[in-house]
Parts: sequence; structure tokens; C-alpha cells
Amino acid sequence: AKIFAYSIRKDEAPYVEEWKKAHPDVEVEYTDALLTPENANLAKGADGVVTYQQLPYKADTVEALHEAGISKWSLRNIGIDNIDLKKAKELGFTLTNVPVYSPNAIAEHAIVQAARILRQDKRMDDKMARGDMRWAPTIGREVRDQTFGIIGTGHIGRVFMDLVEAFGAKIIAYDKFHNDEVEKKGYYVDSLDELYAQADVISLHVPSLPENIHMINDESIAKMKDDVVIMNVSRGDLIDTDALLRGLDSGKIFGAVLDTYEDEVGIFNANWDQKGVPDARLDDLIHRDNVLVTPHTAFYTTHAVREMVMQAFDNNLLMIQGKEPNTPVTL
Ligand code: COI
Repeated sequence: AKIFAYSIRKDEAPYVEEWKKAHPDVEVEYTDALLTPENANLAKGADGVVTYQQLPYKADTVEALHEAGISKWSLRNIGIDNIDLKKAKELGFTLTNVPVYSPNAIAEHAIVQAARILRQDKRMDDKMARGDMRWAPTIGREVRDQTFGIIGTGHIGRVFMDLVEAFGAKIIAYDKFHNDEVEKKGYYVDSLDELYAQADVISLHVPSLPENIHMINDESIAKMKDDVVIMNVSRGDLIDTDALLRGLDSGKIFGAVLDTYEDEVGIFNANWDQKGVPDARLDDLIHRDNVLVTPHTAFYTTHAVREMVMQAFDNNLLMIQGKEPNTPVTL
């Protein structure tokens, strides 16, 4: 069997080598280049491909991969919102993702950022950098005094819930699909409106499905409590950025934690040090003292990256062997 992998970063290569060592019968080749229609032919002769990227896999990319003779495709990440799934289905692809590489990576990031925004740490850091060491008015809110509204109770939402629980905060949750354990704890509210009305901190843990896009907008923000904190470690397009900026400008929103941004593709995971951030809204958000922006790095831990590589290659090999992969994507 032969597997070809795209966009293997320096920090992933050791794990690819580890997987190779454990599978001496499998030929593994890889490149650091992203999969594009132009280089899909690199995979020719392989039995399957392993990829990860935030750039879209449009119909032309899927077609090029098909023309290279590939039908077994394994993603190293969770999200499948950047793939032309219709085209992949039409061309007979079987697809896998890695839905549980490390929910803790994202949830730990979220709880740390939640505590930081509530303590006004960025403002205090700015003051310290200027030599202003006065306490007031940079007073903190304790995590335990907040009601956390967790939207989406999948793997990540539930680990986040455990961490919030450990701080002693009150939790309410919303999801179209109820999880038994969350149900037993009595955390579910019946509607998003109820959650918006009660939550001091709202955290998003749902995928970018058409019905979720811009769920945080002027209308939903108007339903929230004053001084609400909004957190997005999921997908940028869940938030209408203009509405978020209006809510921040008016003072309705106390602060925001953003690990994703709706126009992040092509901007995050690149260096704009000399050129400047090429997006005015993002630049605005980054420079606010009550907004914590990270470039889609909540997932980016050694634990998660190793799992992403190992599980994706395992999935791909299982498909090549004609077996059921561990985490198939239903097309
Ligand atoms: C995902 O796993 O879907 C992420 O958002 C992480 C990123 C590597 C795409």
C-alpha cells in the first residue's frame, strides 16, 4: 500500500515518521505543499491521500484528485466545511476526518481565555507595559460568579463544560441533539433565546452548518445580557463580525474571545509582521483591549497534532485494506 500526504508541516513530520516506522509495509510519501488542482498529480500511484488545510477544496481540486486515481481521502482535522462534499460524493470518494484528536486542546484554550477576559488581563498587561500599576478600574469578574451558556455539547463543548464546572460556574447548554450526561445534569435549556437571556459568557462549539452561519448577529446580541462575553473557538462564520463590532462599540459586549474569524482563510497561519494585517476588521479586533484574538491555534498542541497525524493515517490504511475506517465522514 502507498499513502501520499499533503501539507505536512515541520511539527507534524516526526509523527509521520513515527507512523511510518510502525507500518514498515506501507510506503509513505509526503510534501509540505497544500493540495491544489495543479499538484494533485503528485498523489498518482498512491492508494490514498492524507491532507489538512484551511483553504477550500473546491470542485476543481476534488476532480484533480479523482483524475490522479485517488478515491480514499483522509483529513487530519475535524471540520469538513471547506470541502465540496457534493463533488466528492459524485466522484465516489470515501472520506474520513479526525473528530476527536484532542477536545482538551480547544477546551483548555477556551477556559484560559475566558478567565483572562473576565480578569481584564489584556488591559492590565497594557497598563503594566506603560508602567501604570494602579488597580482601578481594571477589576476582575470571577469565573464562578458567571453563568456559562455553552452552545453545542459535542466532544469539545463537553470538555469545556467540565473545566467550567471545576471553576464552580453555573452552566446552561443548548444543542439540537441532547447528550445523556448533560441531560442528566439538567443543563439544557429549550431554546437559544433562553440561553441568550441568562448567560454571562456565551461559548460556541457547533460546526459551520448553513443554519448556524451568523447565528451571533444584531438580533441575537440584542437578546443577550449587558456585559456579555462572547467566545468563538469553533468557526468564524458563526459570528456576524459587523454585529460583533457594533456590540463592542456600544458597550453591550464586555469582551470577546476569538480563535476564528470569518475571513481568516489566507490570513491566519501567515506572517504579516512587515506588511501589516490585510483585513481592516481583523486588525480592529486585534487592537481592542477587550478582545482576545488567536489565529486558529486553540487546536495547536503537541498532543492534538500527534493524534491528527496518527488517526488520519490509520483511517487511510483501513480504507486501503477495504476495512471500515474508524471515523468515516458520511457523504
Ligand atoms: C479542525 O480540526 O477542524 C480545526 O478547526 C483545526 C484546524 C487544523 C483546521
